[in-house]
Amino acid sequence: MEKTIIGISKGRIAKAYIDYLYKNNIINLKPEDSRKLYLETEEYIFTFLKPNDIFNCLKNEIIDIGIIGSDVYYNACEEKVTYLSELDLFNCKFALAAPKDTNVEDIKRIAVCSRYAAYQYYSEKEPERYKYLQSVYNDPVMIKFYFSQFFNDVNYVVMDGSLELAPLLGYADAIVDIVETGATLKANNLEIKKTYKPITTMIVSLKGRQNCGYIEEFVRVNQRIRQ
Ligand code: PRP
Repeated sequence: MEKTIIGISKGRIAKAYIDYLYKNNIINLKPEDSRKLYLETEEYIFTFLKPNDIFNCLKNEIIDIGIIGSDVYYNACEEKVTYLSELDLFNCKFALAAPKDTNVEDIKRIAVCSRYAAYQYYSEKEPERYKYLQSVYNDPVMIKFYFSQFFNDVNYVVMDGSLELAPLLGYADAIVDIVETGATLKANNLEIKKTYKPITTMIVSLKGRQNCGYIEEFVRVNQRIRQ
């Protein structure tokens, strides 16, 4: 039997998902597996990839299924990839955060992560997705965050990471970033001023392949675990 190949987003998602598979006896982890970029079971090959590589591998039919964050999915603008099901792995959300003494009304510059700032032409390219995002993130700051090039009243500075440093360095007044435990904000003297809809983990595949038996079976297994 050919094995189903799954690409899992490296980092937070991979860690939580592997934990979840282990606890549910789907994989058997040995200490020497900790740096492995793939894990094999009788039915599956789990690989750990960066989100963009997951999209490319799906489109080139190198992997069958992707496991990625909803933030990545909705930003990716990948017409050929479709959402199949959701996994409840952790409690992550986007938040607007700033130093304690900052008033939200005074925020003029927001630091955002580069991976959310590059999708400026959605409203023209994918009006349906644009509408969807507007409904999901029914908040002007969040919409500006996603479509920063369209708006001028708040300026955005783009960083690759370590956004929490931006207010400390005077590079921005606030940040919009992923928050899970809140420990990173706290350690860097920032507090949440506003939270947005949660970020979930999604099972995705190439459009048109979602009804293949082995893909449906994978979704079923994951839904079973979820219950
Ligand atoms: C995210 C985010 C924060 C941190 C928040 O970074 O950018 O820095 O997690 O998590 P916490 O609320 O549990 O402290 P991530 O570790 O995903 O890596 P990144 O820097 O590549 O975004």
